[in-house]
Amino acid sequence: MLKRSPAIAAYWLKDGFYLEEFVLGERVKAKPLLTVILDAFSRPRSLASARRELAPFGAKAVVRVIQQLVSRGFLVPANRKRPDVAAAWKDCFAAAYFHSAAKDVTYATGPVEWQRVVDSRLAAAPQPPLFKEYKRAPFRRLEKGDNCFPRASLREVLKKRRTVRQFRRSAIPLGVVSEVIRGTWGTTGRLNTGSFGKLLTKTSPSAGALHPVECYLLAWEVQGLAPGLYHYSVKRDGLERLRSGDLREQAVRAASGQTWVADASFLCILTVVVDRVFWKYTSPNAYRLFLLDAGHLAQTFCLLATASGLGAFTTAAIQDSLIEELLRIDGVREIPIYLCGAGFPDPSAAKTSVETLG
Ligand SMILES: Cc1cc2nc3c(=O)[nH]c(=O)nc-3n(C[C@H](O)[C@H](O)[C@H](O)COP(=O)(O)O)c2cc1C
Repeated sequence: MLKRSPAIAAYWLKDGFYLEEFVLGERVKAKPLLTVILDAFSRPRSLASARRELAPFGAKAVVRVIQQLVSRGFLVPANRKRPDVAAAWKDCFAAAYFHSAAKDVTYATGPVEWQRVVDSRLAAAPQPPLFKEYKRAPFRRLEKGDNCFPRASLREVLKKRRTVRQFRRSAIPLGVVSEVIRGTWGTTGRLNTGSFGKLLTKTSPSAGALHPVECYLLAWEVQGLAPGLYHYSVKRDGLERLRSGDLREQAVRAASGQTWVADASFLCILTVVVDRVFWKYTSPNAYRLFLLDAGHLAQTFCLLATASGLGAFTTAAIQDSLIEELLRIDGVREIPIYLCGAGFPDPSAAKTSVETLG
């Protein structure tokens, strides 16, 4: 008895239509007969029964293609022991496909091979700008926040960090917000990488020191800052105002309707400028780098916010299209990736609050 592998994707390449068994990394051109045969094995069945049903396509051709599909892993024994990726990943096909595509990427390691990679990247495109800037937007520098971080050991801050979803309604001084944002997204130095140009260092690590994650601030309860939408300029260490007004409703919608977000004081929208990563890393694994970089930054944000007496949260339940519209980004060259925010925690709130999203 044979059945179709559950891990088959289909797509067009320049020279035709292909099928890929993505767990094994096998690819074949999707000829009509091959597709008909795979379809016939959607449920387990014997070779004899398939041959009978597919007889109009020519017995010899059918057997030849079945043999080819078995040898390449597109048809598998119905009782095979290997984990079924579709079942194990609960039919989240795109996630399973992404993981397989991002696996076992080959990296250049030797100096000669490495130089070849560098040369080909530089020939393909110039280094993308390190900074995103809104030069014409009203600008204000971030403040210095004196005594923002009372003396507490890193261990104490780590133990204190919890996701906070209940807040006391009072505005946070801009100095505190400044220290948290600067401490997360601001530069701590420059890095001369030679062929890959001048790059930045920050308090979080970043793959290739490329730092693709931008920060947009939605502020509605920040003392000394008019409510609105701002972009944090890493270059100028300040805020570029993109929109004025109380946008907390948009913040809730961006966070997929989690109403408690409006009780916080501000929300940071994290986006990725994809070219900063693809300029150097051109494999599907680049998407993993986006997520990991955002995760590092969000953890730094949470620790800094906690250290300064704020209650912080993160949410990956984001409404991408709404955010794209709000920020006027195209969702292709720059994509929303994560949200984090903070407010003064409500001291009377139960410590056990949990996610309310299903
Ligand atoms: C990637 C990620 C996504 C999250 N998304 C949400 C979310 O959408 N809503 C929410 O209330 N909490 C969210 N959280 C917070 C988790 O629910 C929280 O970290 C978890 O319950 C453990 O609690 P603690 O952070 O207080 O230790 C998220 C956390 C992470 C790391």
